[in-house]
Amino acid sequence: MLRIGMLTSGGDCQALNAAMRGVVKTIYNNCKDEVEFYGFEDGYKGLIYSKFRMLTGEDFSGILTRGGTILGTSRVPFKTIREPDERGLDKVAAMKQNYYKLQLDCLVMLGGNGSTKTANLLSKESLNIITLPKTIDNDLWGTDMTFGFQSAVDIATTAIDQIHTTASSHGRVFIVEIMGHKVGWLPLNAGMAGGADIILLPEIPYDIDKVVDKIEERDARGSRFTIIVVAEGAISQDDAKLSKKEYKDKLSNYKFPSVSYEVADAIQKKTGREVRVTVPGHVQRGGEPCPYDRVFASRLGAEAGKLILKKEFGYMVGYRNREMVKVPLEEVAGKLKMVDPKSDIIKEAKLLGISFGD
Ligand code: F6P
Repeated sequence: MLRIGMLTSGGDCQALNAAMRGVVKTIYNNCKDEVEFYGFEDGYKGLIYSKFRMLTGEDFSGILTRGGTILGTSRVPFKTIREPDERGLDKVAAMKQNYYKLQLDCLVMLGGNGSTKTANLLSKESLNIITLPKTIDNDLWGTDMTFGFQSAVDIATTAIDQIHTTASSHGRVFIVEIMGHKVGWLPLNAGMAGGADIILLPEIPYDIDKVVDKIEERDARGSRFTIIVVAEGAISQDDAKLSKKEYKDKLSNYKFPSVSYEVADAIQKKTGREVRVTVPGHVQRGGEPCPYDRVFASRLGAEAGKLILKKEFGYMVGYRNREMVKVPLEEVAGKLKMVDPKSDIIKEAKLLGISFGD
């Protein structure tokens, strides 16, 4: 008998279901023993509070194309995991107890950066863990790609495409705010795919005067409009110089709903141009996975299934240099894969005339 637990943790994304289906199909098709799958509800909460259900083949039928997660998800921040809950429950002890009570042979965790830190902790506590890299942010260290990312790029690009036509009709400056608080892979890729003129990323602090220069350069050339993609976590060069505390203080008195509105306000004041802001928000995480993500997540799931059958645990399945790889959890946990301002893609974008406001 093989008993496998599964949970999806953190912000959802497309292809979570496809990845779980990949694990289950691989195990069903290649395991000679009887197998039982247990799905924990709403991420680590399900494991902590023993909220689970037994899953059958039927649960996984027809879900390759379905967005969201059939298990539900939630955020249980890593920094609180060692703290007792409001009733004094030791969360780590509870997770271990529930794992052993169900006599699990392993736990498959589909999650991003914070969730992988918790997975690493559980692995160090001697639970058998395999993780799969999910997030629209593509910021997990140890893998060139995460599932969900390409689907989100498609949606964000469509948003920018739609804005293009109305921006050109009205001759306006348009800002499209794209998800990514700490890391800018999604705004960078969607911005390039959508033909943005300016892209502001968390990794490249901007100078508002350089942004204005680019708009004026386009005006002088007779371009009627400018498209600016702003990452949720874009930061000005002045703000980047502030200490953590000073920046926190600034945000506590912040009069704008987000950085995009601050950029819009500054441009309006400096140029007198009409500026509009569009925020696609969680639309970027919603809906069905694109074909790339369906294939990619299925492949990751199959590789995870293979590791389980070989009883190799303590790894995240990743994709590096066009190959599927297993990366030790302790190597992945706590590291972010950022956009390198000196990387080829940034240099190429600059050759294409895209300004990063630096
Ligand atoms: O899951 C990643 C992400 O979508 C980020 O891109 C975004 O900044 C954040 O989650 C939004 O979080 P929440 O869904 O909790 O509002």
